[in-house]
This record gives sequence, C-alpha cells and structure tokens, in this order.
Amino acid sequence: MRSTFCALVLTLIVASPSGEARVIPDPSQKPAPGNEARQTPLRRANYSPAVNYQLQCLGCHLTNGEGSPRHDIPMMKGFVGNFLKVEGGREFLMRVPGASLSALSNQQLAELLNWMLQDDGIAGGSAPKDFKPYTGKEVAAYRNVMIKDLPGYRSSLIEQIRDLGIDIPDDVIP
Ligand code: HEC
Repeated sequence: MRSTFCALVLTLIVASPSGEARVIPDPSQKPAPGNEARQTPLRRANYSPAVNYQLQCLGCHLTNGEGSPRHDIPMMKGFVGNFLKVEGGREFLMRVPGASLSALSNQQLAELLNWMLQDDGIAGGSAPKDFKPYTGKEVAAYRNVMIKDLPGYRSSLIEQIRDLGIDIPDDVIP
C-alpha cells in the first residue's frame, strides 16, 4: 500500500508541469562562437599565486587579506604569519577549508601560501623569520586531514598566539 502511494507521488512529481520545466542540458547545444576551446582546469593552468588568490580566495578574503569580520571572514593582513609560531598552526593554514577544498593542486596551494606569507605579502612581516616554505608534498600530506572542531581548533591557536604576547586585533576574530 505504502509503496503504491510512493510510486503515485513519484509519478505525479515526474509528470508535473514544474518537472518538465527543469533545465535539461541540450546535447546538441554548441558553445557560443569564439568560445569553443575547452576551459583549462585551474590545477593545470599556469597562473601565478597572485592570480590564483584572486580566483580562489579574494571573494572572501578581499584584495589584501583584510577579510570581512562582519561576515566572519577573519583579517589575515599583517597577522596570518603568527599561526606559524604556535603548535598546529602550520598545519592549520593547509587544512582550513577555503584552502584545502580549493581547486588548486598541492603545488599551487603551497606556492600560494608561501606567497601570502612573504614579508611584503598579506602576512606583512608576521611570519617567523626562519619560516620554511611549504612544499607540494607537505600540502598533500595534510590538506585532506579534516579539522573536526574548526572554531575550537582555531580559537586554541589564537590563545596560543596571545600567550606569546602578540596582540590579537578584533578584525582577526579572536
Ligand atoms: C567561502 C569563503 C572563503 C574562501 C573562498 C576562502 N576562505 Fe580562507 N577562510 C575563510 C574563513 C571563514 C576562515 C576562518 C576559519 C574558518 O572558519 O574556515 C578562513 C581562514 C583562512 C586561513 C586561516 C586564517 C585565520 O585567521 O583563520 C587561511 C590561511 C585561509 N583562510 C586561506 C585561504 C586561501 C589560501 C584561500 C583560497 C585558496 C581561501 N582561504 C579561500 C573563508 C574563505
């Protein structure tokens, strides 16, 4: 009885006019003139870290990593390098979802983080002086290790940074 009812509901949904109105890709549709070439996947495009940042990160983190604290996007500008000074912080920067789930290859993500952490980059001198650049191999080893309690993990890192006597600006979202 129940399965008959389900089948009936399903038939109605499939046959309903709104069902028909769904967009079904037209197999004979051609690309717009001049747009025939297939797009190169980002991980195979040879863009610079700065361009990759624009394409994959800037939408949330804004041009210079200033972020948008009122939308819960922390400011990275002049601060993000401090994460490298505490235990678990180096891994955190590879594992944070915006970075780990991006369309970038491991090598591209390593280069992008290194670019961000330069003294004249987003980190603005906040990275330790003996900072060892990330490698693609290192990113491969850590990026897929999911952070189970992201807010808790992040705030424990912020507390460790505070314990070093480093000021935590409000925009970093302590
Ligand atoms: C959809 C929005 C979004 C995008 C896109 C995004 N991020 Fe983030 N990012 C966040 C948020 C929110 C946080 C704070 C931690 C969290 O909740 O994930 C964060 C935190 C970070 C942090 C740690 C700094 C901190 O204070 O927590 C780094 C490093 C980072 N992102 C790098 C990147 C990189 C690199 C990219 C691009 C490849 C990127 N993010 C794309 C939203 C984003």
